[in-house]
Amino acid sequence: MAAPVVAVIGGGQLARMLAEAASPLGIHLRVLAAPSDEGADQVVTDVVVGAADDADAIAQVAAGADVVTFDHENVDHDALDALERAGVAVWPSVATLRFSDKAHQRRAFAAAGLPVPDFEVLDDPAVAVERAVAFAARHVDVVVKASRGGYDGRGVWMLHGEAVADFVGSWDGAPLVLEPKLALRGEVAVLIARRPSGDVAAWPVVETVQVDGMCDEVVLPAELDPSVAERAVAVATEVARVTGAVGVMAIELFLIESEDGTGTDVIVNEVAPRVHNSGHLTIDACRTSQFEQHLRAVLDWPLGPTDPIAAAATMVNVVGTEGHDPRDRQADALAAVPEAKVHLYGKAARAGRKIGHVTVTGPDRSVTRERARLAADLLAGSD
Ligand SMILES: Nc1ncnc2c1ncn2[C@@H]1O[C@H](COP(=O)(O)OP(=O)(O)O)[C@@H](O)[C@H]1O
Ligand SMILES: [Mg+2]
Repeated sequence: MAAPVVAVIGGGQLARMLAEAASPLGIHLRVLAAPSDEGADQVVTDVVVGAADDADAIAQVAAGADVVTFDHENVDHDALDALERAGVAVWPSVATLRFSDKAHQRRAFAAAGLPVPDFEVLDDPAVAVERAVAFAARHVDVVVKASRGGYDGRGVWMLHGEAVADFVGSWDGAPLVLEPKLALRGEVAVLIARRPSGDVAAWPVVETVQVDGMCDEVVLPAELDPSVAERAVAVATEVARVTGAVGVMAIELFLIESEDGTGTDVIVNEVAPRVHNSGHLTIDACRTSQFEQHLRAVLDWPLGPTDPIAAAATMVNVVGTEGHDPRDRQADALAAVPEAKVHLYGKAARAGRKIGHVTVTGPDRSVTRERARLAADLLAGSD
């Protein structure tokens, strides 16, 4: 039997880590990488260079593939529609990919009865400012989000009062979503994998720590009352069903005080229909990594066990510092933290850019947090 071929649109670190998981499974991975993409081309032998909105390039990478999947969601939907119509397996489906739009998420989740914050979608410029004024009158602090194209906190603005309407009035990009700024007790994520048949497997809930809107650290397990953890997984499972997810989906959740003040409510923040930063620690800390699971799910193979292989684990992102190549610091970092599992993506170290991550497993959360932080700081050159 020939090797199964998985075509990945996008050539960043997620495609690179999918390739690392594909190799032992005997899966041939082919990547469509834009000329500016960095990460995957250094480890993948079969690379088509082209833009993710170029229908010809998409057709070329899909030719003969068993399934087409994604490293990012900024893909031409019409080209994918054509592939789906031609009988090519595209997972997640185009319908699921539409959920990478925050306005679509909020509307669809509210309609499905999922817990979401109060929100307003501004997609009609004629009434946008008027609606923004009304929303800002209801909520002291407002979070304004670009419905598309944002990541790592770029595309999210915390504003209040007249600044909300001023911002909306001068905006000419994608539709905006307004939400109240919530008093967060914490943020968690649930990673879930789903097969085309509907079988699902979720990893234990992880805690995510953001700095300036960007995920900085992920800790397993999240410190939660078991009933809250159960609720988080139930909400995520419903999100996966509502979105028709196939492959791995990351569901970011907010924890807030319940209205009666006696407990904690789980609210959906956003979802990503793909492998995700909040799941990187599954490579070193769980029996099946998100990358292996994604490949198994999109090929409609049986899913693997998701349980942790250690009592605790922490992942810390290695964020670029101008002028420092983390590879130059690797020996020092490993000397200081020999148990660190280092993943560098081969990307240029621009300031504020995620260029790698470190995972440490161990007996408890605090030890793993401290050790992973030390290794990541040494690699980033920010010590
Ligand atoms: N409504 C909100 N209330 C409070 N904090 C928020 C709200 N929306 C977003 N944030 C904060 O901003 C971060 C980034 O927002 P998010 O919508 O997840 O954007 P991104 O696509 O950049 O990850 C969140 O992880 C959270 O820390
Ligand atoms: Mg987010």
